[in-house]
Amino acid sequence: MNCNKKTVRDIDIRGKKVLLRCDFNVPLDKKTGEITDDIRIASSLPTIKYLLEGGAAVIACSHLGRPGGEWVPGLSMKPVAKRLSELLGRPVKLSKDVVGDDSRSLAANLKPGEIMLLENLRYHKEEEKNDPAFAKKLAEMADIFVSDAFGTVHRAHASTEGVSHFLPAVSGMLLDRELTVLGGALNNPKRPFVAILGGSKVSDKLGVINNLLEKADTILIGGGMAYTFLKSQGKEIGKSLCELDRLDYAREVIEKASRKGVSLLLPVDSVIASEISDSAESSVVSADAIPEDKMGLDIGPMTAEIFAGSIKSAGTVIWNGPMGVFEYLAFAAGTVAVAKAMAESEAITIIGGGDSAAAVSKFGFEDKITHISTGGGASLEFLEGIDLPGVVCLLDK
Ligand code: 3PG
Repeated sequence: MNCNKKTVRDIDIRGKKVLLRCDFNVPLDKKTGEITDDIRIASSLPTIKYLLEGGAAVIACSHLGRPGGEWVPGLSMKPVAKRLSELLGRPVKLSKDVVGDDSRSLAANLKPGEIMLLENLRYHKEEEKNDPAFAKKLAEMADIFVSDAFGTVHRAHASTEGVSHFLPAVSGMLLDRELTVLGGALNNPKRPFVAILGGSKVSDKLGVINNLLEKADTILIGGGMAYTFLKSQGKEIGKSLCELDRLDYAREVIEKASRKGVSLLLPVDSVIASEISDSAESSVVSADAIPEDKMGLDIGPMTAEIFAGSIKSAGTVIWNGPMGVFEYLAFAAGTVAVAKAMAESEAITIIGGGDSAAAVSKFGFEDKITHISTGGGASLEFLEGIDLPGVVCLLDK
């Protein structure tokens, strides 16, 4: 995929109305409806400020949750508008609809330097269907489309791809940085290039593993998915997570890595317990000797040390997926060790979104990482090396 796309800096924005697709899909507290993590809103500020200070009027839009085309009141953009206004220090008008009379009239009267936010795009089923008529209505409110929603570029929706058929489409600064850093790491990495993969399932990472086998020098595998690999080598994994239908695939990956000279490292020890709870009695055993009634819930200290060594001597490190059930302190040490090693490494360090990003901020290492991607599914698909519709549709440089 060509990542060399025009950005807001390459076009004239003064006096223009800009439809700005953000990824304001933030987590909300189930009881209070309050935003529990505003990183995605904060990450959008540089582009918004650039546009407003450059004399553009901004019509921001996003989805929130998955209302499935229904007007779900709990998924209104109201808390987002409030938080965005607090962070920007200026009013953010929230329209009562998405492409109706209210949004059209607010957009028509918007002055340079002012910002408004549309209601939840997914209140209309046409959004996810990439309906051209809906995309046209969105586009009609503006002169330019700026996509800054890296988290949704893997979706071909009306607001991520459809509008580009009606307006000149460029990237915002957040999206540009994601493309530059992730694209640079994948296509022209400073070597050795180390990829760390974790999380529970091999099946979620098939595409990523296949692509990284072609690019990385070293692949470190931890998390629940490691047990499928260990089992494929005939090791005793007790009650650990295992995808029996992926054993052949795991075996093939190990063989392919060895043929290609990619060093693929599996855990050599494991933190085990009989249940997932902080009060569970845990112990460390060799990764090939997990008792029948126990499960592996984190990489062990020896594995953490080996992984940290690889990270230390790397030129580029990409990490996707935790090393254990880090939400429980008893099984967090492996994930903390990897996050710490990345924070201390002089390599270009990239966290591929999702759970690993949450872990890095939970344990306080985010300031020492080169780049933490704002995309979950999108960064996974990027790492798979597939074309992302929300990127392909932007104007080439
Ligand atoms: C995300 O949270 O990863 C993005 O906002 C995309 O959301 P979606 O998976 O509901 O399309």
